[in-house]
Amino acid sequence: MKRTLVAQTAKVVGEKVRLCGWVDSKRDHGKVTFIDLRDRSGKIQVVGVGKLGELGSEDVVEIIGKVKERPEKLVNPKMVTGKVELEVEEYKILSKSDELPIPVEGDGLDIDEKLRIKYRYLDLRRERMAKNIRLRSKVTQFIRNYLCEEDFVEIETPILTKTTPEGARDFLVPARLQRGKFYALPQSPQQYKQLLMVAGMERYFQFARCFRDEDARADRAYGEFTQLDMELSFVDQEDILQLIEKMFTKMVKELLPEKKISQSPWPRLTHKEAMEKYRTDKPDLRKDKNDPNELAFSWTLDFPLFVKQSEEDYFHGSGKAKFAPSHHMFTAPHPEDISLLDKDPMKVRGLQHDLVLNGFEVGGGSIRIHQAEIQKKVFDLIGFSEKQKEEFEHLLKAFSYGVPPHGGIAPGLDRILMVLLGEPSLREVMAFPNLTSGKIAIMDAPSKATEEQLKELGIKTTEKRKKKD
Ligand code: AMO
Repeated sequence: MKRTLVAQTAKVVGEKVRLCGWVDSKRDHGKVTFIDLRDRSGKIQVVGVGKLGELGSEDVVEIIGKVKERPEKLVNPKMVTGKVELEVEEYKILSKSDELPIPVEGDGLDIDEKLRIKYRYLDLRRERMAKNIRLRSKVTQFIRNYLCEEDFVEIETPILTKTTPEGARDFLVPARLQRGKFYALPQSPQQYKQLLMVAGMERYFQFARCFRDEDARADRAYGEFTQLDMELSFVDQEDILQLIEKMFTKMVKELLPEKKISQSPWPRLTHKEAMEKYRTDKPDLRKDKNDPNELAFSWTLDFPLFVKQSEEDYFHGSGKAKFAPSHHMFTAPHPEDISLLDKDPMKVRGLQHDLVLNGFEVGGGSIRIHQAEIQKKVFDLIGFSEKQKEEFEHLLKAFSYGVPPHGGIAPGLDRILMVLLGEPSLREVMAFPNLTSGKIAIMDAPSKATEEQLKELGIKTTEKRKKKD
């Protein structure tokens, strides 16, 4: 007998069906036992007369029975299947469940997050989490369809690669075949997407995994996160802003109809205006901050190209230079300000655009430098050594073979979902997030390598190893 999904039962009253799922809850009333059966589509009340008594919470079962209309006064308007119930004829336990280490009902926000992440496969049974992860899939599907319609090409770029600094520490991976050398995991696909423009792809996107060794916060993942990475050729900033605004407006309308975008077109503020008026470059422009359905998108533009270089900016340059890139070192200076690069670099505006939603920076991008001499000038200003410049030689070389003017943006998928769904942290919209301490709880990673592995890689660790390792 073919399986029927719980949500379809309301349409087949009077018919015999086979349902499969988990025992969500159980109520014993003497001879009659009620369970709520849960599958991916919803829940239904199942009635067992002299049956089901031995079932426990979260057991996996298969039930064959008849779909019946519930008496008027027992209709549950809160459930899609609230007008019907299933009367059991026969059933089979497919697997028993031990008592769960965490409850899976409720929003789960009061449970120790370590436990929630360690038992994520249970935490994801929670209605709120299942909804978030399913919406995430709808969002990526919407974006993929939208961009492909707009003639974008989806292209994967390497994970084992070379550093592309975005302001965090790199994760390094030792290269067995070239002892003493390391790959860096990409902080973003920035250089690859620019190379794809040289390749003539013109419109690229990818849901790109980015790796950054930086401290976690509610809105910043430790380790890895996902960007909707995009790059376009022969465009100006206006084209990029319009594309993003149209795409997200349509997405909100289709996937989150209960939400309202508070101002359209989205307000645009210069960095200077934002700082003077709101003392932040990511102002929260909601009219009513208590309204969970209000979405206030805005753009922050005309950032200064450089900020003062700090100690932590050492990876951008020598540590002695005065300037660090405000966005990243590939961002183009405003054409009106190019002459200031030599005279007064801190006054140069960059063609950077930050996408802001309800007070969070949910995306960042820019028009890029495509002239080798300007790129070299920026390298000098951020204090790059000759050796550091060599690291980017491939990009300048590529630019010598006919590079189109280009630019792009990368909305952070996790962060934008967090804000769209009103969740307190981006871990609530990620299937398997890391703990803030950088521990991958389910797999208990990172873990030690064996002596043999280290030997093969030519690596010695300074940490003392216990005998039994
Ligand atoms: P940027 O570094 O500004 O730009 O990143 C773009 C967007 O990615 C998200 N983001 C994060 N989300 C979760 N956890 C993190 N640790 C984290 N870091 C960043 C944010 C941010 O706005 N290559 C450029 C983009 C470009 O120029 O096209 C880049 O990576 O939402």
